[in-house]
Amino acid sequence: MRLPVAELHLHLEGTLEPEFIMDAAARNGVVLPWRSLEELRSKYRFTDLQSFLDLLYVNLEVLHTRDDFEQMTRSYLRRAAAAGVRHAEASTDIQAHTRRGIPIEVVVDGVRAALDTSEDDYGITTKLIISFLRDRSPDEAVDVLTRLLASGARFDGIGLDSAEVGFPPSLFVGLYDLARANGLHVVAHAGEEGPPQYVADSLDLLQVERIDHGNRSLEDAHLVARLVAEQIPLTVCPLSNVRLRVVDDLEQHPIRRMLAHGLNVSVHSDDPAYFGGYIDDNIDAIVDRCGVTNDELARLARNSIDASFLDAEGKARLHSEVDVWSEAHSPAR
Ligand code: ADE
Ligand code: ZN
Repeated sequence: MRLPVAELHLHLEGTLEPEFIMDAAARNGVVLPWRSLEELRSKYRFTDLQSFLDLLYVNLEVLHTRDDFEQMTRSYLRRAAAAGVRHAEASTDIQAHTRRGIPIEVVVDGVRAALDTSEDDYGITTKLIISFLRDRSPDEAVDVLTRLLASGARFDGIGLDSAEVGFPPSLFVGLYDLARANGLHVVAHAGEEGPPQYVADSLDLLQVERIDHGNRSLEDAHLVARLVAEQIPLTVCPLSNVRLRVVDDLEQHPIRRMLAHGLNVSVHSDDPAYFGGYIDDNIDAIVDRCGVTNDELARLARNSIDASFLDAEGKARLHSEVDVWSEAHSPAR
């Protein structure tokens, strides 16, 4: 039995495997800069966040039809089920599609078609987060959110991602005010490459409920104390952190230190097709390379459940699954 977890930091466009990308390009008549699967595979070496985003945004241009978005989401859910994911709060970078002329409905209807049957099809409950690109204009983000709200599309929250440094949370106060006024949940990437102040500003100015990443919070003892006191969830992505050089190598990853501080951290896969694995691969990596114990794994799983937007009943159901896992993995056995 795999550790039962909630996956809360997952970009659907980051689940496009190279084969899917090449097939969709052929199907949709998209000419990619890469001529073969081998050439595409050779591009998966990153020096920082931007070098990864450059590849991600080219590859996602193969997505054109409602069926493409449905198949992308189904492929993720199928793989996530095998990885132990019992609840997923997946995000889509909608502006990466609207800016190239793909209608909002094509994206949302396709993703929803997979999410709406995912409990029956894959045993995974889901929520949908619409992420906004911080390196595009705040006015565009407000316009897209306004159109989404008017369209009747069903989604549960908003996020903020893409290039971080130089695009502080203060730019997006209006977007987050609009989201909260409409009863949406709010999360944001912060402290991946950006400074600790971006984490504090995401809490104070955007009033986010979770921080995606948050690694650089560790540089500020006052901020750490606040995150612990308020039990703000940090959705940490170890394999992503290594591939994007947020940490030097897995052995140096601060996940155990974060737990020891009492931070509400949990482990997620970010863009699994780009960073060497899904949530099970992230978990195996921190066990093998950081020495994370079974007790710590259970803590990480429980944190992921508590940080989710599930109701009390949904959380209790998943906690009882972690109880079963813990019992089977207790030292006495
Ligand atoms: N978009 C997809 N993955 C991301 C990440 N790790 N940071 C910022 N933007 C992203
Ligand atoms: Zn991310």
